[in-house]
Amino acid sequence: MSSYSIESLEQYFKVYRQSIRKPKKFWGKIAENNFTWYQKWDKVLEFDMQKAEFTWFKNAKLNITKNCIDRHLANKGDEIAIIFEPNDPKEESKSFTYNQLYAEVSKMTNVLREQGVEKGDRVCIYLPMIPELAFSILACARMGAIHSVVFGGFSANALSTRINDSDCKFLITADGGYRASKTIKLKEIADKALEKSPCVEKVFVVKRTNEEINMVEGRDLFLQPLLDEADATSIAEIMDAEDPLFILYTSGSTGTPKGMLHTTAGYMVYTAYTFKNFFNYSNGDVYWCTADIGWITGHSYILYGPLLNGATTVIFEGTPSYPTHSRFWEVIEKHQVNQFYTAPTAIRALAKEKIEFVQDYRLDSLKVIGSVGEPINEEAWHWYNDHVGNKRCPLVDTWWQTETGGIVIAAIPFVTPTKPTYASLPFPGIQPVLMDELRNEIEVNQKMGNLCIEFPWPAIARTIWGDHQRYIDTYFTTFPGKYFSGDGALRDEVGYYRITGRVDDVIIVSGHNMGTAPIEDVINEHQYVAESAIVGYPHDIKGNALYGFVVIKDAGLWRDKNNLVKEINQLIADQIGPIAKLDKIQFVNGLPKTRSGKIMRRILRKIAEGELTDFGDISTLLNPEIVEEIKENRIK
Ligand code: PRX
Repeated sequence: MSSYSIESLEQYFKVYRQSIRKPKKFWGKIAENNFTWYQKWDKVLEFDMQKAEFTWFKNAKLNITKNCIDRHLANKGDEIAIIFEPNDPKEESKSFTYNQLYAEVSKMTNVLREQGVEKGDRVCIYLPMIPELAFSILACARMGAIHSVVFGGFSANALSTRINDSDCKFLITADGGYRASKTIKLKEIADKALEKSPCVEKVFVVKRTNEEINMVEGRDLFLQPLLDEADATSIAEIMDAEDPLFILYTSGSTGTPKGMLHTTAGYMVYTAYTFKNFFNYSNGDVYWCTADIGWITGHSYILYGPLLNGATTVIFEGTPSYPTHSRFWEVIEKHQVNQFYTAPTAIRALAKEKIEFVQDYRLDSLKVIGSVGEPINEEAWHWYNDHVGNKRCPLVDTWWQTETGGIVIAAIPFVTPTKPTYASLPFPGIQPVLMDELRNEIEVNQKMGNLCIEFPWPAIARTIWGDHQRYIDTYFTTFPGKYFSGDGALRDEVGYYRITGRVDDVIIVSGHNMGTAPIEDVINEHQYVAESAIVGYPHDIKGNALYGFVVIKDAGLWRDKNNLVKEINQLIADQIGPIAKLDKIQFVNGLPKTRSGKIMRRILRKIAEGELTDFGDISTLLNPEIVEEIKENRIK
């Protein structure tokens, strides 16, 4: 029994206590015993919670790809690192051994170096879920460039905003991507984005759909011919522990998306250690996380965490319902998947379909099933547990965020007893606290509070790219000296945490974070819109859906309501992406406001949820009469 693998509840409590009493000693040992370093650290941790400054493994030198790839070559060179399962089941899946992964990543690294990418440069990656996405990310890490992956479902405008924010000089994209029965024209979207992103000097293009695309001379290059010429061995750059590894954008309740910055050593140690424990990974297992690599779940638990453990990880290009609702289960049977990690929204959608879609497949290879992205409701929990896990596999509900880098609260399978809808206990090194509105710590059980973390852990984000003050203001100011997650939670008598949802204006729709203010800004750009307010309401499959209350400027100018709804949603799709489209739009003559002009979202939320009584005291509103009118015309 090593402390790297936690195997009993007793051991968990012991390790947890050690990690809290002597965090530096604890993390120093994990780091020392399980990774390859060019040079060890002078100090395990230096930090200042007020200033949001964290230095883990000070002055250590390493390269994360040496740990993900090279160190496995001696013993595992011929074992499979990546299985690629395409969107269309008729297309053959592909696999890459650790030796092949080394060769592919080396070629990509050499191409990027030859093409002028330098250590510290930002490289935007806008690719579908294909192996080249993994190779590109790892090549950046190998040569010390900072990758910024943008989810393939984002629009040209969203891509451009992200490219400009971190001043990316390079873009790696594809001609197109497959998603269910659709083809997404990625290069066309990228071309449009680049009209507003002059910082990009070179574009590398992967061929996936082989459709005709526009190639700009002197800027755009097809990758394959360059890779064909490249050397299949490469030297990894020597990186400092705190050198940036990647930027990943996440929506906030206001303003532009936040470029969360993760650095090298702490992120590596934490994702590796959590992967091993939360998925009970053993040599030879096949692990599959269905997330997109464009989100943190994909970064930490499709690529880095699994590869750091020498695992076999599946990259899935498709969707849960294409060509049938059996797709997930078919892939599990086909590749004999042992650990399966997905999102409640997918579970809810599949649970609505005929049970035969699941029952026709043998899922007995499964050992552990996981959930991530939003609270998993009781019904979905039981369906997943009974029909997929067969009441045999522990269901780990993992709570974490882009900002935390890795899982922070979840059950360790075969160790922590699970409890539906509870993420359960904190991982070693994590010190959660619940705070009330008056900034007092909540000591009693079963009372909802704001979920904070008191002490740094190795994978905590280091800053928001280019705006450290925003990082401090967003996460370290509401409850001074603590990291504030933006989520609400309660704790039961055993100490298990149940995450109740966001307490700010971020709404989680199908597992994607949606800030309301950025969507409102887009709607307000429409020529006939005076102002708008968006709230969330419960939705059977998506978890939450978006309800927009929109005030029209001049009622005389617009005739066709349906058209306006379409135009507003088109605007959102163009500016942000189809994932942010509104499910319901109600045109109103005004929004309920306080005398100081603040929109009373609480009332709008109740109306959207269909709770039409008990609005509290509305007499102090500037325009109390509007509430009745909105209520009467609400969209059911
Ligand atoms: O509200 C929480 C919810 O997702 C938010 C983080 O979103 P993102 O940064 O996109 O990362 C998603 C994947 C880690 C959190 O603030 N969330 C995530 N996992 C859970 C969850 N809410 C409840 N239970 C979870 N297991």
